[in-house]
Amino acid sequence: EQREQNALRTAHEWAAKWYHHILMNTEHGQRAASYLRERGFTDKLAQTFQLGYAPAMRNSLAGFLEKKQFSTGQLERGGLARIGDYGAADLFRDRIMFPIHDARGRVCAFSGRTLDGKQPKYLNTPETPIFAKSRILYNLHQAKTEIRRSKTAVLFEGYADVIKSWGAGVLNGIATMGTALTEEHVAVLKRVCEEVVICYDGDDAGQAAAMKCLPLLARAGIRAKVAMLPPGLDPDEYIERYGSEAFVRGIVEAAAAPAAFRLHYARRKYKLQTEEGKAGYLREASKIVASLPSPIERELLLKELAGEFEVSFETLKQESNEVRQELE
Ligand code: UTP
Ligand code: MN
Ligand code: MN
Ligand code: MN
Ligand code: MN
Repeated sequence: EQREQNALRTAHEWAAKWYHHILMNTEHGQRAASYLRERGFTDKLAQTFQLGYAPAMRNSLAGFLEKKQFSTGQLERGGLARIGDYGAADLFRDRIMFPIHDARGRVCAFSGRTLDGKQPKYLNTPETPIFAKSRILYNLHQAKTEIRRSKTAVLFEGYADVIKSWGAGVLNGIATMGTALTEEHVAVLKRVCEEVVICYDGDDAGQAAAMKCLPLLARAGIRAKVAMLPPGLDPDEYIERYGSEAFVRGIVEAAAAPAAFRLHYARRKYKLQTEEGKAGYLREASKIVASLPSPIERELLLKELAGEFEVSFETLKQESNEVRQELE
């Protein structure tokens, strides 16, 4: 059991080195290398994250690892190859390779991105004896130091976001592996930080996913903040367009408290140009405010809403108090 796991880890270590070598030093990797450069991934970032390229051939990795005495069965159990009619066939072909490390820094899986719109966009290693994706946080091994120092982690949706932010100076960035945040992820985070800044994509899916993180973090006693991106952009694209400084100061450091984010999120559902829309939003907003434990926070938010919508503070307070009484 333990021996098998060690063998799978060693195979992954070799595979990461090999994919990285192909990307950085060979003719085969040139198209992938220029794709990455065009997207703003510098050579230095490619090295720090050990990015690679899996060639389009049927069994190039399998051939390499078989020469290193790994069996076809091991490659299959490790999620690196499948056994087909003609022997082992690589799982990842013609993809940019993102090695996934466990918290101790050992390569335990890969995610491979297409260069040409093939589906799926990212192909992930299946569950294996050394890889459980509900537990793994991408880049935790490198971000741990800064997470512990600042007591804060910045949580992204994607690999590209983590890597670009690292280039922008955010050294405490991590991501889930294409799944929603789980209780297991939260338990891992609880051990290393006190605060999580959620920095998901600006689209509806990203914002809805951010909403779902809030109760999980709250239950674990981890303080949450939510960074808000413009609707069409994710962190990676924002950095490309507006630069590192704008991203760090204007997005990450400007992250909102959960209540402010919930108000912002609720707004999207209402047509605020109409009286009906305004009333609907203010009723929902009063509910959100009513659910906050701190009277000071409640008062400040109600004052802000009253000012913005030109209703009296007393009216809003009354609405909110009625909801609170129902809650109690
Ligand atoms: P996104 O679709 O937001 O991709 O998915 P991205 O991170 O912006 O990637 P680029 O910039 O187009 O290269 C967010 C994350 O969801 C997972 C991956 O972890 C991805 O980083 N995902 C997405 C998958 O696992 N499979 C997919 O097919 C797509
Ligand atoms: Mn490594
Ligand atoms: Mn997304
Ligand atoms: Mn994205
Ligand atoms: Mn992206």
